[in-house]
Amino acid sequence: MQKILPVNYNNEFSYNIIFDASFDELYSNIIKIKSKKYDKICIVTDDIVDTLYLNDLRDILSDKFKSVITFTFPHGENYKQISSIEKLYQYLIENHFTRSDCLIALGGGVVGDMTGFAAATYLRGIDFIQIPTTLLSQVDSSIGGKTGVDFLSYKNMVGAFYMPKLVYINLNVLRSLPKEQFACGMGEVIKYGCIMRREFFDWLQDHVAAIQQMDPEALLHMVYTCCECKKEVVEADPLEHGIRSFLNFGHTIGHAIEKLSGFSLFHGQCVSIGMVAASYMSVNKGFLDSKCLDQLKELLLSYDLPVHARDMDIESVLEATRSDKKMAGEKIKFIVLKDIGRADSYMDFTPDDLRQGISYVLNEG
Ligand SMILES: NC(=O)c1ccc[n+]([C@@H]2O[C@H](COP(=O)([O-])OP(=O)(O)OC[C@H]3O[C@@H](n4cnc5c(N)ncnc54)[C@H](O)[C@@H]3O)[C@@H](O)[C@H]2O)c1
Repeated sequence: MQKILPVNYNNEFSYNIIFDASFDELYSNIIKIKSKKYDKICIVTDDIVDTLYLNDLRDILSDKFKSVITFTFPHGENYKQISSIEKLYQYLIENHFTRSDCLIALGGGVVGDMTGFAAATYLRGIDFIQIPTTLLSQVDSSIGGKTGVDFLSYKNMVGAFYMPKLVYINLNVLRSLPKEQFACGMGEVIKYGCIMRREFFDWLQDHVAAIQQMDPEALLHMVYTCCECKKEVVEADPLEHGIRSFLNFGHTIGHAIEKLSGFSLFHGQCVSIGMVAASYMSVNKGFLDSKCLDQLKELLLSYDLPVHARDMDIESVLEATRSDKKMAGEKIKFIVLKDIGRADSYMDFTPDDLRQGISYVLNEG
């Protein structure tokens, strides 16, 4: 069942994304990365994924390299901090890791972003492999080379663009994901339909039952299509000077809500609410037919995603949105929808436009 999707960087081959239903072909794909085999491997994970898949991976890899060591972070966004990276640096130094060694990120977006950042900066860069285990990380965060950590209360404030050498997606690991985590990934999946593929949006409407029942073919089609979308965007605009910012659709208000919820709402849930707010603002400006907003809300709800946030103050969300690092002065840039499947950026939102979008998801959405 293995499928391969190559990703280019600056018009040259950069890495493969492998889609499989087990870890069986991991080793054969690692040794294809470069002619000389890695000496040492450090598998980096979090304490939940550790109990689920670390032994499997260790069993597969441990007799194949001079040494295979493991490092486990506590799980969750709260640990996506420089202090966690420092502990990993220290561990790599103690274990004499050099540039001929390799890190493997086994986990969701938090582990992937942190391991990638450690790989980008340790000894000015050592190789790393992404083995994403959440739906969100399989369809989004493991691809495209954005790595980093949160700083103070700012999300992803410190980081680097640094490409993995391989992304290995084992679709079967999605079976152990808690339902709400799966739903969070669906937020990003639906985002691709909204911003760039109408027919995929329609397909998602028609395959709710198959996806909820984890039908292997439907899952493969869904994850593969999202990776194709992400590949298309990051190849065209690797460093986010232009269309890569379309991937931020729903994220600006989403991040603000995530922050104000004290991270009690998950990232994907907040993105879902943020997409509704951004679509409402698109309707308000006359860019989008209100029927599309209704269709989007219906699709999000059918995949167990929220379309509103309660018990939050509009002005606080506005303030948090405007303090987001992407905001400059009075001009507010936002990703809007012109249709389902067609995004654009619009530079001239006013604070009041934002207020209306936020109010919609806090009061009516
Ligand atoms: N780099 C990028 O381009 C990019 C893009 C989007 C999001 N992100 C980042 O990704 C992070 C969110 O990622 P996430 O949603 O994967 O969260 P996460 O990494 O925190 O994982 C969510 C939870 O699921 C658990 N988990 C992981 N895999 C599991 C499995 N197979 N079975 C059971 N439990 C499992 C984890 O232990 C964790 O508790 C955020 O920090 C966000 O900023 C990065």
